[in-house]
Amino acid sequence: PQNVGILAMEIYFPPTCIQQDILENFDGVSKGKYTIGLGQDCMAFCSEVEDVISMGLTAVTSLLEKYEIDPKQIGRMEVGSETVIDKSKSIKTFLMKIFEDCGNTDIEGVDSTNACYGGTAALFNCVNWVESSSWDGRYGLVVSTDSAVYAEGPARPTGGAGAVAMLIGPDAPIAFESKLRASHMSHAYDFYKPDLASEYPVVDGKLSQTCYLMALDSCYTGYCRKYEKLQGKQFSMADADYFVFHSPYSKLVQKSFARLVFDDVARNASSVDESAKEKLGQFTSLKGDESYQSRDLEKASQQVAKPDYDKKVQPGTLIPKQLGNMYTASLYAAFASLIHNKTSSLDGKRVMMFSYGSGLTATMFSLHLTEGKSPFSLSNVAMVMNIEHKLKARTELAPEKFVELMHVMEHRYGGKDFVTSKDTSHLAPGTYYLTHVDSKYRRYYAKK
Ligand code: ACO
Repeated sequence: PQNVGILAMEIYFPPTCIQQDILENFDGVSKGKYTIGLGQDCMAFCSEVEDVISMGLTAVTSLLEKYEIDPKQIGRMEVGSETVIDKSKSIKTFLMKIFEDCGNTDIEGVDSTNACYGGTAALFNCVNWVESSSWDGRYGLVVSTDSAVYAEGPARPTGGAGAVAMLIGPDAPIAFESKLRASHMSHAYDFYKPDLASEYPVVDGKLSQTCYLMALDSCYTGYCRKYEKLQGKQFSMADADYFVFHSPYSKLVQKSFARLVFDDVARNASSVDESAKEKLGQFTSLKGDESYQSRDLEKASQQVAKPDYDKKVQPGTLIPKQLGNMYTASLYAAFASLIHNKTSSLDGKRVMMFSYGSGLTATMFSLHLTEGKSPFSLSNVAMVMNIEHKLKARTELAPEKFVELMHVMEHRYGGKDFVTSKDTSHLAPGTYYLTHVDSKYRRYYAKK
C-alpha cells in the first residue's frame, strides 16, 4: 500500500468550559498570567456525565456515521489515553460495543499509555499495521481521548479535555513520510501519576518545560540527520510549510518553534539569513543546560521567529488555545486546527509534527498533504469536524461551578455505586454520557 496515513478525522470535546481571564480573577493571580503568560483563552472540562470513554464513543460513532464507514470495515482499533479508568480493562474494549452491535468482533489493538504520547503510539501502530504483511485490507482506527485535570495550584489552568478519532488507510490525503521520523526517549520524573487513588498528576512544572525542549532538540537533530541521509541534502525549517506541536499551553509552543529557529542557526543551516545569525549567533556557545535557562536567548529567538510563527505555527493553535491541554489528543487537535484554518491551501504541503509525553517519550515526524477525493478529502475533513460551530455551541460555566465539579469528580474517581445527574442539557444530540456505576464498578453509558 502507498501513501498510508490519515483518511478521515473527527474531533469531540465537552461543551462545558471556562474562560481563562475569569479563572485568573477567581484564582487571585495577576491579570494576564493565564491569557498572556500561558497564552490560553479558554479551558474545556468534562462535567460529571462525561469521561474519556463517553468522549471516545461519541467521536468514533460520529466518524463512522459522517464518512459512512461500515463498522465491519474496521480491522484494527488503537486507543491512546493517560486517563486510567481501569488498570486492566482497556478503553478500547468499551468502544467495542459499537462494533459488536454490528457483528464485528475481529478488531486488533488495545490501549497505549505514556502521558501525552499514547495517541502517537496508537497512530504509529495503525500505520505500521497497514504497511505490514499482516494487514487484511481493512481500515485502522485511532482514538486519542483524555481529560486533563490538575489539583488546585499553578498547573490547574493547563487542564483541558477532548477526543480525536482518525481513520487510517492507504492513499490518504494526510500521508506519512514513513522513513522521516526521529524519537527521543529517556527516564525523567517531570510529570507522572504514581497515586492510583487520584486522577491528578504529580508535576515538576519547570522540569517538564526543560524536558520538552530537550526532547524537541534531540528529535529535530535526529530528523535532520535522517532526512539528509535519505535525500542527500540538508534539511532546515525552510523545507516545511507548517509545524504542529503537542500543546500543554500555547506559550510553550511559541518557545518551541523559536527553539527550532535557534537550532537551525546553531547547525549553520544554509537557509538561515544574516540577520538571524547576527541576533542568535552569540548564543550558540551556551552549553546545553545554560541555553535552556537563558532568558536573553528565549527573547531574541522568539523575536526572530515571529514572522514564521505567524505563518507556519499559528494556524495550528486555535483548538489548543480554546480547549487547553487534551493530553494524547492535543497534538491531533492542533493538527485539526490547521486543517480547519487552511483547508483549501494545504495541497502539496509538508507538516512537521512534534509529539511529547512526559516520563518521557517524544517523536518528530512529518506528513505530506494532498487534497484527496471525497469523502477522504481535506475539505470534507474540515466540513465534518465543523470546528467553528462546535466552539460556538459551548456553555461557559462559572468558576464556582467548575471547582464544585472538580470536587465531585475527585470523590467519584475510582468509586462505585453512584448514579450521575444524567443532565444532558448541555450535550448535543448523539453524544454519549455516563449514567451510573454499579456496585461492581461496572460503567453504563447512554446516547442522547
Ligand atoms: N501577565 C503576563 N505574563 C505573566 C503574568 C502576567 N500577569 N504572570 C506571569 N506571567 C508569565 C510568566 O512570566 C511566565 O512566562 P515565561 O514562561 O515566559 O517565563 C508564564 O506566565 C507562566 O508563569 P510562571 O510563574 O512560570 O507559572 P507557574 O510556575 O505558576 O506555572 C506551569 C506554569 C509550570 C506551566 C504550570 O502551569 C504547570 O506545571 N503546568 C503543567 C505542566 C505542563 O504542562 N508542562 C508542559 C510539558 S508536559 C505536559 O504536557 C503535561
